[in-house]
Amino acid sequence: MNSAPIAIADVSPAQFPAVIALWEEAGLTRPWNPPAADLQRALETETSTVLAAVAQGRLVGTVMVGHDGHRGWVYYLAVTGSERGTGLGRLLMQAAETWLVDRRAVKVQLMVRQTNTAVTGFYDRLGYTDADVRVLAKRLD
Ligand SMILES: CC(C)(COP(=O)(O)OP(=O)(O)OC[C@H]1O[C@@H](n2cnc3c(N)ncnc32)[C@H](O)[C@@H]1OP(=O)(O)O)[C@@H](O)C(=O)NCCC(=O)NCCS
Repeated sequence: MNSAPIAIADVSPAQFPAVIALWEEAGLTRPWNPPAADLQRALETETSTVLAAVAQGRLVGTVMVGHDGHRGWVYYLAVTGSERGTGLGRLLMQAAETWLVDRRAVKVQLMVRQTNTAVTGFYDRLGYTDADVRVLAKRLD
């Protein structure tokens, strides 16, 4: 773990540019999901938030978390390149899980793009397993 103390709290508007830059650096943005709109929507919705990890005044990680009334969901987990492998991804996932437990969620789920094979080992280490479901989707906008 990095020796600098890490603070994890809801993202503030002043952090928006750094959050979006991190999501782009981490390869999480897609043209059809404008990140600023995703960020704004998650923060304005009562049952979701975006948590930011800050070390020495610098944004070093994020995780978006929400509760849909049945399950909890995690999106936009990202750790800046220089801090990866220091335990920060685990810390952010723990913070997201705690946020959900505080809201009485009993299960957390997340979606990993089929192309993101690099992250499989990370979720394995954290005890996540294949849910053996097909995810269907339809755009409403
Ligand atoms: C995924 C990500 C958040 C992990 O963050 P991190 O800070 O490097 O992870 P940690 O240091 O907390 O790792 C926790 C454990 O997972 C292991 N781990 C981390 N990345 C791994 C990988 N790619 N493959 C295998 N194991 C991995 C670590 O060795 C550590 O193991 P330990 O339990 O023995 O300590 C980071 O790599 C990232 O931002 N990736 C790009 C964005 C992304 O793909 N997000 C997920 C979208 S679904």
